[in-house]
Amino acid sequence: MPNMKETRVIHIDPEHINTNAIREAAAVLRAGGLVAFPTETVYGLGANALDAEAVAGIFTAKERPAHDPLIVHLAETRWLERVVRFVPALAWELAERFWPGPLTLVLPRGPQIPLIVTAGGDTVAVRVPADPIAQELLRVANLPVAAPSANRFGCLSPTCAEDVLADLAGRIDLVLAAGATRVGVESTVLSLVTLVPTILRPGGVSREALSAVLGEVAVCAKPIGDKEMALSPGTLSQHYAPSARLILYQGQGTTLLKAMCQEAMLQHESGKRVGLLLAQEDLPFFSGLPLILRAAGPLARLDLVAQSLFPTLRALDRAAVDLILARDFGIAGLGLAIRDRLTRAAGGRVVHVEGSLAKFTCGD
Ligand code: TXA
Ligand code: MG
Repeated sequence: MPNMKETRVIHIDPEHINTNAIREAAAVLRAGGLVAFPTETVYGLGANALDAEAVAGIFTAKERPAHDPLIVHLAETRWLERVVRFVPALAWELAERFWPGPLTLVLPRGPQIPLIVTAGGDTVAVRVPADPIAQELLRVANLPVAAPSANRFGCLSPTCAEDVLADLAGRIDLVLAAGATRVGVESTVLSLVTLVPTILRPGGVSREALSAVLGEVAVCAKPIGDKEMALSPGTLSQHYAPSARLILYQGQGTTLLKAMCQEAMLQHESGKRVGLLLAQEDLPFFSGLPLILRAAGPLARLDLVAQSLFPTLRALDRAAVDLILARDFGIAGLGLAIRDRLTRAAGGRVVHVEGSLAKFTCGD
């Protein structure tokens, strides 16, 4: 349990960024402190990436295992040379197309970056965030900033300052509070040190968008056993999890909804409070039933589904459900990232509904 300290909260209007607030936050970072700040994906918990002791504070505050490396945030693409041993031509090309934005590149670690940042590895993950507050903070601090999502390890990522405080109040120095994040799921982590560029974690930049630039792109984000060392440890099988047990349902149309409905009612009859995470258009199918319904957004607007994915899971937790049945949103575009987060929230408990058959895989 980390030492308790006073956590200050400074509210910032992203439309009119208060430069004094940014200067204060930058001073905390330069002095080795911990600052939570908004990015376009989720809130990050930042420390000076060049200061091993400051970075150690992140691991303590989050209760994050030391084998899980951090992403280093840069104000601009040119800063790559401050943190990376050498920059492959492909990295400049991807940066040109996707930065600032929700793409993280795994590159050879520069000697300036202490090993605690990379969990002892020879590679470092880097990105230029698109949020104007994050950019100002990085620019004014004039430091590369190591920042994981600002939640306790294994829990849901924070999409607003209140989420950060719920997990980390008393453990960090400062929160820059600026409302809800736009993308809602974390960045896509792409390794450029593999033979073929490889997505280690699907996220805010889609596989299709990367393929358009790269041609071939591999996806390697399979859930793995918790005790194994992961290629990307954020891909542990149970992660991004709400408190309630969650089961993910994959399948098509009303067959999928029928299977969810049947299981939900069975669980309800056995005395459980059951929550459903649905698409907007699914709601009428379940109306009038004694179930807690939450829609993340319409099927045709996966950007909205991604944006409200974590808030919807939090809302179900707040509704004190015992069990969450979540529908799948496919794998096109942001669907892949949504499926990834829900699969991990489910700890691998996935039901594949085909025809009238529901087949449980990797279940417990
Ligand atoms: O959108 C985001 O990426 C957010 C915001 C704050 O930037 N950050 C974030 O950080 O999600 P975190 O620490 O929660 O997730 C970072 C992921 C983890 O899965 C980690 O294992 C992976 O990136 N990662 C970091 N460095 C790596 C490296 N050198 N090689 C492979 N994977 C790495
Ligand atoms: Mg995280």
